[in-house]
Amino acid sequence: MPQAKPLSASSSVSTRLISPAANVSGSLRLPGDKSISHRYAMLAGFAEGTSHLRNFSSGADPHSTLACMAQLGARVEHGQDGVISVTGRAGVFETPKSALDCGNSGSTMRMLAGLLAAQPFTTTLTGDASLSRRPMERIRVPLSAMGAQVDLTQGHAPVTIRGGSLYGLDYATPIASAQVKTCLLFAGLQASGVTHVHESVHTRDHGELALRAFGAELSRSKSTVSIRGGQSLRAVDATVPGDISSAAFFLCAAALFPESNLVLDGIGMNPTRATLLDVLRGLGVSLNVLELSEQNSELVGTLQVVGTPAGLEGAEISGALSAQLIDELPVLAAIAPYTRQGIRIRDARELRVKESDRIALVAQNLRAMGATVEEFEDGLDVPGNQNLNGAEVDSGDDHRIAMAFSVAALRATGDTQIRGAESAAISFPEFFDFLDRIIER
Ligand code: S3P
Repeated sequence: MPQAKPLSASSSVSTRLISPAANVSGSLRLPGDKSISHRYAMLAGFAEGTSHLRNFSSGADPHSTLACMAQLGARVEHGQDGVISVTGRAGVFETPKSALDCGNSGSTMRMLAGLLAAQPFTTTLTGDASLSRRPMERIRVPLSAMGAQVDLTQGHAPVTIRGGSLYGLDYATPIASAQVKTCLLFAGLQASGVTHVHESVHTRDHGELALRAFGAELSRSKSTVSIRGGQSLRAVDATVPGDISSAAFFLCAAALFPESNLVLDGIGMNPTRATLLDVLRGLGVSLNVLELSEQNSELVGTLQVVGTPAGLEGAEISGALSAQLIDELPVLAAIAPYTRQGIRIRDARELRVKESDRIALVAQNLRAMGATVEEFEDGLDVPGNQNLNGAEVDSGDDHRIAMAFSVAALRATGDTQIRGAESAAISFPEFFDFLDRIIER
């Protein structure tokens, strides 16, 4: 099969009409988690042997990672059965013939930088307009301290990495970021000595679990992850759990309808990703875990969500919770007007430097739909007890904004037009088809 071309976020073309719904019900099995797919693709490309990856994310971002791994000499094959086979380079990448295009994917750029920092050649990582606006100093500083030469363009991509011998590092991440943590663990895997990463918030730990699945030893004390350099990795056969951040849109859609009943099979339930479930329970939604198992140390479960006839309460999200819920905050803010007490979000400044300025866009779109909302540098206050009116809203070419407002539109009065709806394909190309399958009108 041909390689997926990285989807650029600079070309919004399609507008999608979302009409109000009467209820949400049914059952779905979602494509693989984006974060885990990136990590498996990178480590499979680095390891010795051929890895077989099932239920790999269908999103454009993890396919940008696969394309980069192929440019680095890994053999990437897309089987008829949907299984992706990656034959790795046993720790020694090929010098790429041209710049590596990370498309819209911050995860690709930041985590791959960690793998490349120890490789004895120069690589340039580029991205689309959105990715080229995102901060990269956060990886340049620690990778330089380990001995790599990393050049940025005013703090941004293109990122040029002159890799070589690295020293282990003892580093406290100033920003709660799983991408930065994983980048440093990938570099530390190839450094001399031990690398310790201290994090003030326990961010998603898929990097640690994936490294272990590929055979590396790591240790974790309360807030520190440590990895010894010089370890080699071996290929795995793995199934990627369904993406809980994609599931979030359907869970929130179901939360909006008092008689909803939705079952999601094979969803990743890693505790560092499942904070949304606590927030939904706090809003009054009934959530049942029907089955739970473990695959390569990742928890996978079947989730049932049942709407609440009493209506939704409200929520306050701040501190560590904001970092752990970072990808779910746009959809929570978008449904906040339908709650009784509203939703208050703070300590989420990182939302301003995602694929778009998600604080500004959420506020702009809620206002376009007739809601009152107050914007703060690090969050939003969205009062409850508000009705939304169908309107034209702007995705800002940001997948999570397109999907968040498609959900808000389900309870609005009148139709909503989502501009740049095709950006959903960055993480979830099937989103609108799946939404159609669970909506009753
Ligand atoms: C991700 C971490 C988060 C998240 C992103 C994926 C990851 O970013 O927003 O969608 O896979 O590690 P940060 O590390 O920048 O918080």
